Amino acid sequence: MTIQECVVESIQRAVPELEASVIGEMLEIPPDKKMGDYAFPCFRLAKQFRKAPALIAQDVAAHLKEEDLFEQVEVVGPYVNVFVNKEKIVELVRDAFASQEQFGSSQEGEGKTIVLDYSSINIAKPFHIGHLRTTAIGNAIHKLYRYLGYNTVRINYLGDWGTQFGKLAVAYRKWGNKELVEKQGIQGLLDLYVRFHKEAKENPELDDEARAAFTAMEHGDEEILSIWRWFVDISLKEVAKVYELLDVQFDSYKGESFYMDKVDAVIEELKEKKLLQESDGAMIVDLSDADMPPCLVLKKDGSSLYTTRDLAAAIYRKKTYDFYKCIYVTAFDQGLHFAQFFKVLEKMGYEWSKDLVHVPYGLVSLESGKMSTREGQVVFLQDLLDEAIAKTKEIMQEKNPDLENLDEVAKQVGVGAVVFNDLFNNRIKDVTFSWNKVLNFDGETGPYVQYTFARASSILRKADYQTFRPEDMKGEYLTDAYAQDLLKIIEEFPKKVHEAAERYEPYIITRFTVALASSFNKFYHENPILSAEQEELRNARLAMTKMVTTVLKTGLSLIGVQAPEKM
Ligand code: ARG
Repeated sequence: MTIQECVVESIQRAVPELEASVIGEMLEIPPDKKMGDYAFPCFRLAKQFRKAPALIAQDVAAHLKEEDLFEQVEVVGPYVNVFVNKEKIVELVRDAFASQEQFGSSQEGEGKTIVLDYSSINIAKPFHIGHLRTTAIGNAIHKLYRYLGYNTVRINYLGDWGTQFGKLAVAYRKWGNKELVEKQGIQGLLDLYVRFHKEAKENPELDDEARAAFTAMEHGDEEILSIWRWFVDISLKEVAKVYELLDVQFDSYKGESFYMDKVDAVIEELKEKKLLQESDGAMIVDLSDADMPPCLVLKKDGSSLYTTRDLAAAIYRKKTYDFYKCIYVTAFDQGLHFAQFFKVLEKMGYEWSKDLVHVPYGLVSLESGKMSTREGQVVFLQDLLDEAIAKTKEIMQEKNPDLENLDEVAKQVGVGAVVFNDLFNNRIKDVTFSWNKVLNFDGETGPYVQYTFARASSILRKADYQTFRPEDMKGEYLTDAYAQDLLKIIEEFPKKVHEAAERYEPYIITRFTVALASSFNKFYHENPILSAEQEELRNARLAMTKMVTTVLKTGLSLIGVQAPEKM
């Protein structure tokens, strides 16, 4: 049971007329700790009990004073303020923690599948720092749901089809060179792409050529298709390195091209269901009743669109995985696209369209300004991660020159810093990338939390305290304000995991790890652990420390950040 559940139970004994859930809703946490751990306001009860709230509060308080859960009960006007017995808090948190091998995990998702569409990069374009967001957020959502017992299917829905491949094919035929592209990889493809756009400004026929090339691809032109396959290979090989650094995996790489032969059936079905209309030669689904612009599903020349492929992909995924939810993580500017095709599926009579979720996020920019692929103004994610690792290594060489496996740790900390920074604010907020902010060992950053974890781990190593022993957590030794604060934060963890999953907001966990780390640092600063004056006191503090390292490590792993034992 949680502390709050115990408090609710006690209050219910005092006011049996109220349901536990109602009491839970009424309960407040006073703004100032000096006023108590919880406050129970009585004004809402005045009508029911035909009595002034202050008098009701007196009655309730008299009952609560009998409960040994509380060490102090005070009446302040219409409020009953309670102070929970400190030793009780220690016991409750200890038991909650010890009752589960993985604290905060659950089986509630058993038998339910969540399909997650994230990262979903566009092939033959650079994997730049903008993609970090979908990749990091998607990965964290996957970890959170898996921790709650759901089965997750991680899909990298590659942007491997569309007119940009026509452009690339044309550019390659005109100015390309096999060896050079082989050697330069995505950069080589990007150069071709940039050159295409530059030349097309002067030479608009190039655009027609590109469109024709893409149509040829759609009709199975082997020559262009083999170039396309080669571009896909080059790109995948290169992004694999980034995924490895980030420690991100996928269960499927079925991208847009996989749905090419499945769009006709969707168009047929739309026609049968009388949802298809012609407009200027193109085919649309009217969405005016939903206050949205029409959804374009076939171009004038009969070729399919991003939306058409997404319709086919959603239907395929429902058939293949029978998902409980299918979640798409992309930048917020694709909001209309998702709203439209979700609506089209609803009109098609698929009641599961309500289980499709778009999880949007804000933009990333550099301190030097916005990024643009077309102008070649981008920061490659690979370069960013490499630089983060190099900078971390420099800092660590200074701080801890004797560290073993410096390279491995620099990788965990450097990459962790970048991911942590990305997941620090709520999704929709724009992110400006700043080195100073990301790599700070003292601010609210990844390295700070990792460093706290390493420091706590080192204490446990020195004491040779590797297994949590509940019997060591004796209430009487952990009643100081710092221990109590730490316990209350730890207790929140299961709730935070839930909230983060439910709201698709990894930042809730990121912030939690910062709060936990900083509370532990205060605890440690005020309470000597290894040199505690008594054996039992020392063990109680060690057990707390073990609890902290376990929860910190789990929290970090849920956001895809590693926790090195030494740094
Ligand atoms: N490839 C797209 C992009 O980079 C994102 C795809 C998202 N997923 C989807 N099913 N539409 O913008």
